[in-house]
Amino acid sequence: MKIIIAKNYQSMSRKAADLIIRQIQMKKNSVLGLATGNTPLGMYKNLVRACKKGEVSFKKTTAFNLDEYAGLSENSKNSYHYYMRENLFKHIDIDKKNIFILNGAAKNLKKECENFEKMIKERKGIDLQILGIGLNDHIGFNEPGSSFKSKTRPVNLTTATRKANRKYFSGINEVPKKALTMGLATIMRAKKIILLASGKEKAEIIAKALKGKIKPTVPASILQKHPDVTVILDKEAAGIILLPKLVK
Ligand code: GLP
Repeated sequence: MKIIIAKNYQSMSRKAADLIIRQIQMKKNSVLGLATGNTPLGMYKNLVRACKKGEVSFKKTTAFNLDEYAGLSENSKNSYHYYMRENLFKHIDIDKKNIFILNGAAKNLKKECENFEKMIKERKGIDLQILGIGLNDHIGFNEPGSSFKSKTRPVNLTTATRKANRKYFSGINEVPKKALTMGLATIMRAKKIILLASGKEKAEIIAKALKGKIKPTVPASILQKHPDVTVILDKEAAGIILLPKLVK
């Protein structure tokens, strides 16, 4: 596991975007796994800028998104469909047929997830997966206790996650109780992974995930077993791992 400590959020975002650009330059038809949340917003801005300047083209690139809320249509402003469209896809030259986001409004959610797994396999797997981390150490929507063998599936969201994500909704009751997410095994099959974290509120969970015991109650700890993970942190998120004696 390679850990890069960036001086601030902007620098973290630039470094992450540069790694994606390098990946696409190396392999034009790269298959990316993309994440939502506040953390990757700066990275997406850098990608949009680079694409507009002609430094990178996504024409042959495929994108699979990590997760989506169940019950939200793709036009709902809180859906990850909407987030991806507004923050990345509508500004770059990616071909729509190469965008795969779980449909949270599908009638049969289980089937939707099985089909998503099938599509990833058809594209020969994910070359580079971007991850953020939730305040309870979740990746995607794999909440604490998720099986390390889990595949893409419908899940129940914990109260902690619903509370953390309440800020995007008009109230806690509006936050869906269910979501669809790539599983931990799905994520681990990606050839390369980049984990991003920013801000001091992430310092403790980052220390637990990267230096603590590998166990399902800390879903992100599974990343310690992956052969090619780059973690990019800003100084605040790196705060505790810089003090190794404090890490249990
Ligand atoms: C959500 C998403 C995760 C994301 C996490 C952290 O729960 N499902 O994929 O990593 O939020 O979000 P943020 O980057 O806003 O802290």
